[in-house]
Amino acid sequence: MKVTVVGAGAVGASCAEYIAIKNFASEVVILDIKENFAEGKAMDLMQTASLNGFDTKITGSTNDYTKTAGSDIAVITSGIPRKPGMTREELIGINAGIVKEVSSNLIKHSPDVTIIVVSNPMDTMTYLVHKTTGLPKNRIIGMGGALDSARFKYRLSEALEAPASDVDGMVIGGHSDTGMVPLTRLATRNSVPVSEFISEERLNQVAEDTKVGGATLTKMLGTSAWYAPGAAVSGLVQAIACDQKKIFPCSTLLSGEYGLDDLCIGVPVVLGKDGIEKIVEIELNDAEKTKLKESAEGVKKTNGLLEL
Ligand code: 2OP
Repeated sequence: MKVTVVGAGAVGASCAEYIAIKNFASEVVILDIKENFAEGKAMDLMQTASLNGFDTKITGSTNDYTKTAGSDIAVITSGIPRKPGMTREELIGINAGIVKEVSSNLIKHSPDVTIIVVSNPMDTMTYLVHKTTGLPKNRIIGMGGALDSARFKYRLSEALEAPASDVDGMVIGGHSDTGMVPLTRLATRNSVPVSEFISEERLNQVAEDTKVGGATLTKMLGTSAWYAPGAAVSGLVQAIACDQKKIFPCSTLLSGEYGLDDLCIGVPVVLGKDGIEKIVEIELNDAEKTKLKESAEGVKKTNGLLEL
């Protein structure tokens, strides 16, 4: 199992670290355009191998895609992160050009690769990778819902005063401050609906805090977050590499599912060795359907800014 991570910034390096620590991949290649940067991150990470007990071989390269040849999975984290006060959508101008070039280079050397898109605006960048590469739709996955759901579970555990392992919940829709749809109705604490434990008002607050989860951290850190994004990516990579058949909300190309067409947006999918093996259509209530439709309109508007 060979995994390429493009972009050795904080998110890319965190991805590589969590993938290595989980010890399921034989090789991780990190790529960056900055001279010697990926090589340095790879060396630093390899010096943790004996400490953290992993056997994954991590190498770095300055933009040499021949080093990525034969990758099973590639993660695109390249591009600029947002600064405090910016929306993810504002990054499109610079990031679209970068993501287009990166995805074309990847498939030249790994025609059967499965691509996981992290760069923002993530749903639009996932759609762009479809248009650029022509890879089958099951092989292009946008990482957003897995991260947003982890942030939702964090906020739920805070409100419930319960450990995160005791709560479950999912966020669908676009990976944006206004587009996320946390499914509060379906969230549970150890199989019990969370509405049994907290008020509707508190639950709405949990949903609002979840939606601005990334923005809150960007304001605190001065740049966008990396630990939870890296961990979320490593979960998706592991589900594919180990053929786990786990359900994650991921951005995927829809062709009629949920009444939506010709866009990538977060919905639950089953991840296994073939990438997205199934799009899971759950029954939403009218309010949830409306929110998902509005979110899709927002994503389509951003997609309209792409020069395809
Ligand atoms: C975030 O929400 C990087 O979009 C990512 O933190």
